[in-house]
Amino acid sequence: MLRAQNLTKSYGGQVLLDNVSFLMNKGERLGLVGRNGSGKTTVFRMILGEEEPDDGALVRPKGYTTGHLSQHLVFHEPTVLAEACTALPKSEDGIDLTYKAEAALMGLGFERTDFDRAPGEFSGGYQIRINLAKVLISEPNLLLLDEPTNYLDIVSVRWLKQYLRSWPGELVVISHDREFLGSVTTHTMLIHRQGLRRMPGHIEKVIEQIATEEEVHEKTRVNEGKKRKRDERFIERFRYKASKAKAVQSRIKALDRKGQTEALSNERTLEFRFRPEPFHAPNVLKAKGLSFHYPDGPTIVDNLTVDVSKGDRIAVIGKNGRGKTTLLNLLAGELTAQQGQVTLHPAVRQAYFGQTNIDRLDHKQTVEDEILSVHPDHNRSAARGICGLMMFEGDLAMKKVAVLSGGERSRVLLGKILVSPSNLLLLDEPTNHLDMESVESLLEAIEEFPGAVILVTHSEMILERIANRLIIFDRGKSTLFEGGYRDFLDRVGWEGDETAAPKKAKNKAVSRAGLESDATGSAAAAAPSAPAKPRIPQKERRRLRAAIVSERSKKTGDLKKRSERLEQKIVRLEQDIEDLNQEMIKLANGGSQARLADAGKEAKKKQSTVDKTFSELETLTDQIDRMNQEFESRLAELEN
Ligand SMILES: Nc1ncnc2c1ncn2[C@@H]1O[C@H](COP(=O)(O)OP(=O)(O)OP(=O)(O)O)[C@@H](O)[C@H]1O
Ligand SMILES: [Mg+2]
Repeated sequence: MLRAQNLTKSYGGQVLLDNVSFLMNKGERLGLVGRNGSGKTTVFRMILGEEEPDDGALVRPKGYTTGHLSQHLVFHEPTVLAEACTALPKSEDGIDLTYKAEAALMGLGFERTDFDRAPGEFSGGYQIRINLAKVLISEPNLLLLDEPTNYLDIVSVRWLKQYLRSWPGELVVISHDREFLGSVTTHTMLIHRQGLRRMPGHIEKVIEQIATEEEVHEKTRVNEGKKRKRDERFIERFRYKASKAKAVQSRIKALDRKGQTEALSNERTLEFRFRPEPFHAPNVLKAKGLSFHYPDGPTIVDNLTVDVSKGDRIAVIGKNGRGKTTLLNLLAGELTAQQGQVTLHPAVRQAYFGQTNIDRLDHKQTVEDEILSVHPDHNRSAARGICGLMMFEGDLAMKKVAVLSGGERSRVLLGKILVSPSNLLLLDEPTNHLDMESVESLLEAIEEFPGAVILVTHSEMILERIANRLIIFDRGKSTLFEGGYRDFLDRVGWEGDETAAPKKAKNKAVSRAGLESDATGSAAAAAPSAPAKPRIPQKERRRLRAAIVSERSKKTGDLKKRSERLEQKIVRLEQDIEDLNQEMIKLANGGSQARLADAGKEAKKKQSTVDKTFSELETLTDQIDRMNQEFESRLAELEN
């Protein structure tokens, strides 16, 4: 059980949390969500005691243990299994718990044959998984996971979901992946407008609830605005009518008294387009018989042949450490294959969003420096423009990389590839760290991009939405699959993935971007023009005119009379209210309290009748205006 009391936290002028409190109950699995930079990781750091709140406190019971995924890759045991076992809790009845460590390691992608290897032999991604296995089997009371899916491939994510669903203690997990959160969490906590909202259920529910509240707020504000306008119009209209002097005065007073509901500031969303470099040939890139291995390493790419066309969206998928990034490096020309070759069309301009580039950002530089560093002309105002597009407006562009959140760093990387136009995008896990709204903008930008896109992603949602072809690293081979991700799951599936129940093929066509339908030429048939109207004879016209005028005076006459009556009613009621007010003042200075209360009620009732009558009057006035316009245009039409 963890309790946060009146937490406040800010950095410089940027307020992240303003006096928030929450309680985590036993066995609760909480999804902590919010926009990039809203302060999620900061909340973790405060729970872990790595960061102090400016105000307020985090309270937990004595002996309550917290575990988190450490990024610190230091191991002391000679083998992976022995290292993992150091995290096992003491077995009370002497039962050997090694099986728990084995299960976690296997679930996270290690093979039995890996157990005896030294932790240091594994790639960074796998070393993090050793840490993840350790924290999972150490069974702390509270487990904190900050975007765990960023380190995992699809198969391990599926395993982790199942593991967390039966987590016995409390869990707070930060993630931008709704699907993941949906299958793991019982509650959601959203950081929104410097506040915290905690609710049972999933993120959609919380977002819906907040949207409803903000809608009500907005409606109230708009209605108040309308009423204000109405009152102003009333004042304007009747200012010089002696009979309404009182009503006008009371409106003016009421307007002065009333404050205005503030508009909620708009939450900014990332919005950008990739800069396309024109490209006219059909073929962008050809890779032929490509084979690659690192010195002394196993074969990573094995005789791969692929032609990439303009408009292709090729997803490179497979477990971590199988060679997806290596393949992108080969295609980008950063690595050379031992066999086969990559041929780029001479007009190809590529933009490369590298997975590891995020770690290559210089912590001492500012956002603007980073963007400027790749600008060919070192143009500061162009760099500033891109900073703005990436939501680092004004002073935010002067933030140092060191203090940026994960999502903010991803935006800097995106900004860097926007600097130069391109027609081939190589994107290696570009959505890691990005919040859901930004992922959506990125996907839209990819969809609109006219060139070719080769993308590494572990997100099944993105795969289904974007990919029209796949390069799959599985079963020790890299193969080209002609079809979308759904096709792949239905027809092939992942090796050793028991969680994937065979799914029925959905009747969803795989979109082949770039295959334009043959629509040109069909738009040539112009719409037939309207036939010319016969002219009405003079006499007939006069008769029609008279009819229209008389209809108008009858119809608007009735409405005008009604509006007069409403005006009189308002004046009468306002007089009554004024009288009641006078009476109430007297009663308040000594008189029957019961009568005072009654008078108050009566005045309130009358006031609400006034308001209602006002609305009616307003509608009626509009109706009269509209009707007049209508008749005017009918008359005008007659003359033409
Ligand atoms: N030491 C610091 N000095 C100044 N600003 C900081 C510091 N640490 C964090 N920030 C800022 O505080 C904000 C919140 O950062 P935090 O890492 O908590 O965000 P987050 O919600 O985890 O975002 P993301 O979803 O991108 O991971 C960011 O705008 C970040 O730039
Ligand atoms: Mg974070």
